[in-house]
Amino acid sequence: MVCKIPEWVLYYPKEKQHIRNPGRIEMSEQLIVWMVKLRMIKLEDHLGRRFEKLRISLLNECNFSCVYCVSEDFGDISVNTVQKSPADQPLTPDEFTRLIEAVHRLTGLKSIRLTGGEPLLYSNLFPLINHIQKIGISDIRLTTNAYYLKEKASRLFDAGVKSINISVDAIDQDIFNEISRHPNTSRVFSGIDAAVKAGMNVKLNAVIMRGKNDSQIIPLLDYATALGVKIRFLELMKMGHLYHSENGLFFSEKEMLSIIQEKYAIESIQREHAETAHYWRTSNGGTFGIIANESTPFCHDCNRLRMDSNGFFYGCLSNAHGEKLSAYMDDDFLLTEKLRGLLRLKQPVKFHGSELSMRNIGG
Ligand code: 5AD
Ligand code: SF4
Repeated sequence: MVCKIPEWVLYYPKEKQHIRNPGRIEMSEQLIVWMVKLRMIKLEDHLGRRFEKLRISLLNECNFSCVYCVSEDFGDISVNTVQKSPADQPLTPDEFTRLIEAVHRLTGLKSIRLTGGEPLLYSNLFPLINHIQKIGISDIRLTTNAYYLKEKASRLFDAGVKSINISVDAIDQDIFNEISRHPNTSRVFSGIDAAVKAGMNVKLNAVIMRGKNDSQIIPLLDYATALGVKIRFLELMKMGHLYHSENGLFFSEKEMLSIIQEKYAIESIQREHAETAHYWRTSNGGTFGIIANESTPFCHDCNRLRMDSNGFFYGCLSNAHGEKLSAYMDDDFLLTEKLRGLLRLKQPVKFHGSELSMRNIGG
């Protein structure tokens, strides 16, 4: 069968964009798929964005109920309750592996980030990491609340997880407990210590909210600097139950910088490609970043694709309706078409929020 060359073929390679003549160039479907597989054609959009990093929410359960992630009326949010979402049909480890393999075949993924919910609650975590290694993706990272990290850090490192992001929203225990709605956040700090000791590249994430933990910016920065790790402060995103809210808790990048500059001189670091954070060095040797989705959006070179625990894929955080790809796993042409559709969902400039909470879609 012969079909017209799809528009995305014309987007790549850039130096060949002068062949924009979709009416005349024809190519067989099979040839297109083979060219994609052989990386002669990349799945790329008009801004040159590709899927290079896959974030997988392994499960949407979590032992924390952070205020920005979980709504007060999300069932019983009494402390230490692992929340379950209704209408779940979680994938098996085998289904996860086959889907990742199919997407990797067509996109040439560079890295995978395992998230949740809380990924350390996922019972098949180690076999899955093993499978991902076998597919040929060795850069495997994890985002965790670190509650169960102390026991697992060195095993994760040995399994190939060399890089880890840990959420820590306050140094003050009462503030941290209140934000995470968990009585024992002190375990997070022993988890962080264990990850550093295991040799992992550790990054800390703190979502800053007005009146809740803006007082914690300096204590968090000083803690990270003393430990020799990077910390990133996040502007609050309108995800999940915050989607329709006024966002009175929003605390801007500018406000964060002015608090830090009252104590330290800072120097900006050149932003790397597809990096969500802008980084600065402090005069006392620390490094911090700010993920400023509102103030300094970073959609223009986004290279992320997301998969939730039910096998739905999301090309953009702003899109609340995922695409189930399992039906296309064995048909590279349709899968290419579906991935191309997901690529089109990326925002040109800025993310506008979504009804999905981070615990469903991963960070
Ligand atoms: N806004 C900003 N960050 C959020 N996270 C979860 N929900 C939100 C939100 N609404 C953060 C978590 C974690 C990362 C994966 O995403 O704290 O650090
Ligand atoms: Fe759990 Fe992360 Fe959501 Fe907090 S933000 S409740 S740690 S999934």
